[in-house]
Amino acid sequence: MSDELRFHDDTITPNGPWTTFGATTAGRGPLEYFHSAMEYVDGNDAKGRQAIDLGCGGGADSRALLARGWKVLAVDAEPGSERLLTAGLSPERRARLEITIGAFHEVKLVPADLVYAQFSLPFAGEHFEQSVRAALGSVTEGGAFVGQLFGTHDDWVAEEGAVVVDHLWVEKSLRDFAHVDIDERQYDAPYGTANQTRHFHFFHIRARR
Ligand SMILES: C[S@@+](CC[C@H](N)C(=O)[O-])C[C@H]1O[C@@H](n2cnc3c(N)ncnc32)[C@H](O)[C@@H]1O
Repeated sequence: MSDELRFHDDTITPNGPWTTFGATTAGRGPLEYFHSAMEYVDGNDAKGRQAIDLGCGGGADSRALLARGWKVLAVDAEPGSERLLTAGLSPERRARLEITIGAFHEVKLVPADLVYAQFSLPFAGEHFEQSVRAALGSVTEGGAFVGQLFGTHDDWVAEEGAVVVDHLWVEKSLRDFAHVDIDERQYDAPYGTANQTRHFHFFHIRARR
């Protein structure tokens, strides 16, 4: 099974709180999107470069970043993320991890070589644009943003009120970036414990300043 499908097979309560999502995804390995980010920023041996994991959830990606030598600022509104993130972490990795619990538009971000926002920013509601601006604004010269934003047809839009964008909106938001790669994807895939099919529609975005 591909990494991409593994994401949709996680045991998620579709309309449940993010607490459930974090707890049930904490133990998974990094997904295809993460590997795509590492390839984009040559990030598998980061030697102390700074990353932000925006909407870190259960912390799987923060842990994967730490394992590759990154310093990580992990951000999430869910207080439970802190416990999930730090469980079993070695002192050396813990020393490279900073955790901020709070909303995207309120937290203080640091200048970062990589801002990684895996399926998180669309859930910022009325603060979406402000949150995206803050995320992009923290990318340093030569640094990168990698993340996903939803298109109109994604089931998460109706189920969780996720914010929708289109290709032009993404392009305009990234006009200050030197290189932009926008991969629009749309497909049905199995999802959740009941293995029901749901519709995915999102932009996998990689952009270098
Ligand atoms: C779909 S989950 C993705 C989690 C993780 N990035 C992953 O891919 O497994 C969305 C995450 O964003 C967080 N989140 C949603 N809205 C947020 C906001 N406005 N500020 C901070 N975190 C938020 C949720 O708590 C949740 O952990």
